[in-house]
Amino acid sequence: MKTGLGRIVRSFEDRYRFRPMSCRPHRRTSNQVAKNIGTLPRRWFQTVGAPIDLPYVKPAPSLRKINAWTIPFLQWLAKATQGTQKDMTSYTGTAKALHWTILALLIVQFALAWTMPHIGRDTPVTTLISLHFSFGVLILLVAVLRLAWRIGHGEPEPEKGIPQWQTMLARIVHWLLYALLFLLPVLGWTNASWRGMPVSFFGLFTMPKIMATRAPGWAWTGDVHAFLSEYVLLVLVGLHVVAALYHHFVRGDGVLRRMLPGT
Ligand code: HEM
Ligand code: HEM
Repeated sequence: MKTGLGRIVRSFEDRYRFRPMSCRPHRRTSNQVAKNIGTLPRRWFQTVGAPIDLPYVKPAPSLRKINAWTIPFLQWLAKATQGTQKDMTSYTGTAKALHWTILALLIVQFALAWTMPHIGRDTPVTTLISLHFSFGVLILLVAVLRLAWRIGHGEPEPEKGIPQWQTMLARIVHWLLYALLFLLPVLGWTNASWRGMPVSFFGLFTMPKIMATRAPGWAWTGDVHAFLSEYVLLVLVGLHVVAALYHHFVRGDGVLRRMLPGT
């Protein structure tokens, strides 16, 4: 027997895929109609008329496979990225702890980035540079935990009375921030590999090399890493903070409070 998921996917395919739009589930091919004709109520035939005989087109096996996985995947993704929990009024303690940990780590990371020596060709990996790498890897690890927690636990429902465009904009900014928390460390790590610099995690272990030193075509990773950090991330965080303060001090609602400890 098919398992639960398999059955759902099969029935989804049978209903909506691989058949022309005109051939809806309630319509039958004339062969099926002929078999069931005795049982069909007369009015059905009178109102709907004789169904068109359209062949069932079986897709190529590769296409079947993509379809079988894309639909459940998209459903999962939609649920995971929205994941509004009706009975939740504030973020979970873990979500709050991870949120404020990331803020603290980012402050350290920017302090290191702006005080470490400028990284050029053959710059030695001094302590500050090495700390920048280690804290960056730590941010990546915390971001993975955070995203897993977010997907597993969702977020509280939007506060009442907030216009929908603001809720949408907040969601977009949150997901861009999540994306950057992955992209920035990966770009930095790629650039360090490209420069032939070892990426150690506080001297405990060394991260694998992502690419060969000076691999042609990858010099841009450093500039893009610095640009995205200093302009895109900082601008988005600025917008995010201004929005949180606006909610707290101007609107006086609970948006900031539900991310603070003790709520
Ligand atoms: C979210 C985490 C990170 C942030 C916010 C961040 C931020 C920055 C910033 C602002 C700069 C520019 C510094 C300057 O003004 O010269 C920079 C440069 C750099 N970072 Fe990061 N960094 C992060 C993670 C990492 C990681 C994990 C690595 C390596 C493992 C790394 C490697 C580098 C390198 C190699 C440069 C020099 C790039 C160049 O100028 O070509 N970063 N980083
Ligand atoms: C002073 C700095 C910050 C303040 C005051 C702040 C405030 C908040 C508040 C009030 C929320 C809840 C929003 C809501 O319920 O709709 C929130 C959520 C969020 N914040 Fe911040 N934040 C700050 C810094 C940051 C930083 C640096 C990042 C990451 C780069 C970040 C990423 C996020 C994300 C991704 C969410 C969504 C939470 C989730 O869906 O799990 N925040 N923040």
